Amino acid sequence: MSEVLKKPKAELHMHLEGSLEPEMLFKLAKRNNISLKHNSVAELKQAYKFNNLQEFLDIYYQGMSVLQTEQDFFDLTYAYLEKSHQDNVVFSEMFFDPQAHLERGIKLATVFNGITQAITQAKTTLNITASLIPCFLRHLSEDNALHTFDLLMDHRDKFIGIGLDSSELGNPPSKFKRLFDKARNEKLRLVAHAGEEGPASYVWEAIDILGIERIDHGNSILTDETLIKRIAKDKIGLTMCPLSNQCLQVVSDLQNHQALTLLNQGVKVTLNSDDPAYFGGYVNANYQALIDELKLTDQEVSHLIQNSLDVKFV
Ligand code: HPA
Ligand code: ZN
Repeated sequence: MSEVLKKPKAELHMHLEGSLEPEMLFKLAKRNNISLKHNSVAELKQAYKFNNLQEFLDIYYQGMSVLQTEQDFFDLTYAYLEKSHQDNVVFSEMFFDPQAHLERGIKLATVFNGITQAITQAKTTLNITASLIPCFLRHLSEDNALHTFDLLMDHRDKFIGIGLDSSELGNPPSKFKRLFDKARNEKLRLVAHAGEEGPASYVWEAIDILGIERIDHGNSILTDETLIKRIAKDKIGLTMCPLSNQCLQVVSDLQNHQALTLLNQGVKVTLNSDDPAYFGGYVNANYQALIDELKLTDQEVSHLIQNSLDVKFV
């Protein structure tokens, strides 16, 4: 591991449910009497081979079925914060998927209580400042999102913004215009996944129609010069996730990853882990992968780390 990675950094794109390690998944299944399709950790890990985003999402939604109680959400969150502390993360703005839990009959209070207790404890024990950004599932309707938004507002003091995730193709940002207008009125910070599998036009929509302040992924902007200039000029952060992109075949090879080219064009690129339990590593492993494959210099790594601190919300 490179020395430069010891610098304090922010992680801005990590789905808590995607930090559920196979070992914990089995432990929680046992604790909650839930039967699993796979018979062992090794067998489960064998299933972690994905040709695209949807194949991953199917397994990710299955995996989170073991999360049932406040204690489960506490354990999940605290384990992630311990791991990121080892990677010198001092700020983390963490995603979670409220609709995926509501659909399974889990109350928002259960989710929020478990997660926020872990955040409070980690502030004291690990000196990490962690915040929450609930993401809306874009494969569901905007009406479902608006209803969920109303439920979330009962917990307004526990999150800083909203995001948009799940199956991108066929679910453009414009589908959620009313939701993002409502969130803006509540002074919430706004982010959205865009340009992971979707075209550059989805990134334009996220900026111009939803008014987002950071783009999650954004790989496809490299195809649009005008868009790159706009994102650089407005200092819109790009929360990129190299190991995720490799696992979901968003890039054919990490040597073709867009991060360095975009950084050199003045875009506020940051590196993040997305779903670390599924994609083979936490945030520093994502930096190290690009150090190895794109031969990033210490100066470039420091620039990426500084960007993470510049575009964080908290
Ligand atoms: N993309 C979209 N939705 C997600 C992802 C992702 O990388 N991870 C968890 N939900
Ligand atoms: Zn993501």
